[in-house]
Amino acid sequence: MNFRKSLFVFAIGLFLSPLGLAEELSVTSPDGDIVFKISDEGKRPQYRVFYRGEQVLDPSNIGFTMRKLPDLGDESFKLVSHKRGQNDSQWEQPWGERKIVRDHHKELLVNFERGHKPKHKFSLRIRVFNDGLGFRYEVPKQRGMKSVEIVSENTEFVFPKPKESTAWWIPSRGWNRYEYDYNTTALTEVVRAHTPMTLKLSSGVHISVHEAALVDFAGMTLDQRRPGTFNADLTPWSDGVAVKTKVAFKSPWRTLQIADNAVGLLNSDLILNLNEPNKLGDVSWVKPGKYVGIWWGMHLKANTWGSGDIHGATTSETMRYMDFAAKHGFVGVLVEGWNIGWDGDWYSNGDIFDFTKSFPDFDLEKVTTYGKTKNVELIGHHETSGSVTNYRKQMGDAFDLYQKHGVTRVKTGYVTDGGRIKRIDDDGIARYEWHDGQFMVNEYLHSVTEAAKRKISVNTHEPVKDTGLRRTYPNWVSREGARGQEYNAWGSPPNPPEHTAILPFTRMLSGPMDFTPGIFDLSFDGLDAENRVKTTLAKQLALYVVIYTPLQMAADLPKNYDKNPEAFQFIVDVPVDWEESIALAGEVGDYIVIARQERDAKDWYLGALTDENARNISVDLDFLTKGQKYRAEIYRDGLGANWKTAPYKLTVESRVVRKGDTLKFSLATSGGVAVRFEAL
Ligand code: NOJ
Ligand code: CA
Repeated sequence: MNFRKSLFVFAIGLFLSPLGLAEELSVTSPDGDIVFKISDEGKRPQYRVFYRGEQVLDPSNIGFTMRKLPDLGDESFKLVSHKRGQNDSQWEQPWGERKIVRDHHKELLVNFERGHKPKHKFSLRIRVFNDGLGFRYEVPKQRGMKSVEIVSENTEFVFPKPKESTAWWIPSRGWNRYEYDYNTTALTEVVRAHTPMTLKLSSGVHISVHEAALVDFAGMTLDQRRPGTFNADLTPWSDGVAVKTKVAFKSPWRTLQIADNAVGLLNSDLILNLNEPNKLGDVSWVKPGKYVGIWWGMHLKANTWGSGDIHGATTSETMRYMDFAAKHGFVGVLVEGWNIGWDGDWYSNGDIFDFTKSFPDFDLEKVTTYGKTKNVELIGHHETSGSVTNYRKQMGDAFDLYQKHGVTRVKTGYVTDGGRIKRIDDDGIARYEWHDGQFMVNEYLHSVTEAAKRKISVNTHEPVKDTGLRRTYPNWVSREGARGQEYNAWGSPPNPPEHTAILPFTRMLSGPMDFTPGIFDLSFDGLDAENRVKTTLAKQLALYVVIYTPLQMAADLPKNYDKNPEAFQFIVDVPVDWEESIALAGEVGDYIVIARQERDAKDWYLGALTDENARNISVDLDFLTKGQKYRAEIYRDGLGANWKTAPYKLTVESRVVRKGDTLKFSLATSGGVAVRFEAL
């Protein structure tokens, strides 16, 4: 197969082929490894994908089913013309895993038309990068198509040899949104999955299926219709329609990250590259940082969100946290449970939340004024419990209030079962929507743009999955969208040791996560209790490098940090904004080793963690700068450490290292290592 050849016969221009003349077109990644082929030679238009000569996606359908219209992309569609393009440019992130991102791709725009009346048309725009590809539908203005209702998308992803492939996935359309333990199964065992869904083919090739730039559209899930054949399954509105839109419209990009090993998926900027550039202009007001909060105490039931004797969000407690934050250089203090509405069963009481009225024991003016004297900000909190109309009505005033008090970061929350987001429609009727349907996709983005008008950044909990929109809206700094640390307090069961060895290869491919690491009291109810943190202490530190977010929490209670200043020093030192990030080694669900360089600085950091198995790793320090000496401050599992009975054994040591040296570490069961390489 001479796929590389097509690279050289590359041309820019518009090619017309007379209707009815079947053809197959290819577009190849700049390095020649990935080939996307699209054809109308068979019964209906189909695409397939090759990686280094191996067909990794068998012929797969494209198109949509729309109400009252014949299908777009069915057998009556022919490829009528195409256009090629290419790009090799760089862009700078205001914050991120790396400062400079290269966008190097080849593009093919394929125009399809129905051979008979109604002469509908649509295009498929395909971009192929060295790390994967994306394609999206573009439906132009045309006769007989004004407002459309998409009932289903017919895009398929047909994987060869599904029994011999492994998948890491969580179910979609479930009550618990994205907050499930990851399944590791044969690909054939997947039922309906959220994206990113990650697979390992029998050849060892790793693929992650996801989408980029999910705007004004329904989220895509993956429904296995036949063994290996996945259908893009759009999450519908409460009335059953998937997408309501006006023509012309564009779909989000359907993406495949492709690599010959697991870490190849991580060293990829595909999703960001397929998003549009920053639309907010100057975003110097979006400031990364670490925070603490009145938070874990509620999850441990030591405090309450609601009023009463053990109310967490009091003025004095907030000031105490601000003192702690200031002492250790944290930028903010998150305060949950400060406003009216938390009393009673807040999970189902979303309609009574008031986003501008505080409980009497919380003085917003006083705490924010105090914070200013300490250079620490309040981090705001808006829990909606899924009553989004109630929130929408108050949103402007709620953000105004925070802006007035100098709050520049707000955590939002949409706690309610999947499919139970409550909106009141124009007729005053309550409708219940999914977190990842078109309605909520628009609602989340609305909150982000409203916040941006007030120079406020947003960290969304119970979000729709990330699809790279932080590039376009850099104030959308983080989100949850997976099982976070909170499950260790009350989840039944809590997160298994392998959880954070799966997240980097699945959830984290979509974007930053507010996982809230850094629990030091791992066994708050005893080592044998069902609920505890099933990691070593060193692994909690490693999470600061492994799980990326520009707004990173030190989640434990200050008193637990005060008890262990030696380990806490790593959390104090570790940055949250990076010049460069390199995934060095790892296997999905087993272990991960990541190195990151501090933004605009010389220091490097390393984080490595393992699942329930202890393992030895050896790290070549090739990422360090030549000729530069570093003091490696190492926080590793101590002798005899293991997550079950000896999670606190931690050894902190330092030594001088250089590029070219190798460091060897023994990771305990569910253990880890964190290293700061301080340039000397
Ligand atoms: C769920 C969020 O994930 C958690 O962080 C928060 O404390 C609660 N909702 C209450 O808003
Ligand atoms: Ca949550």
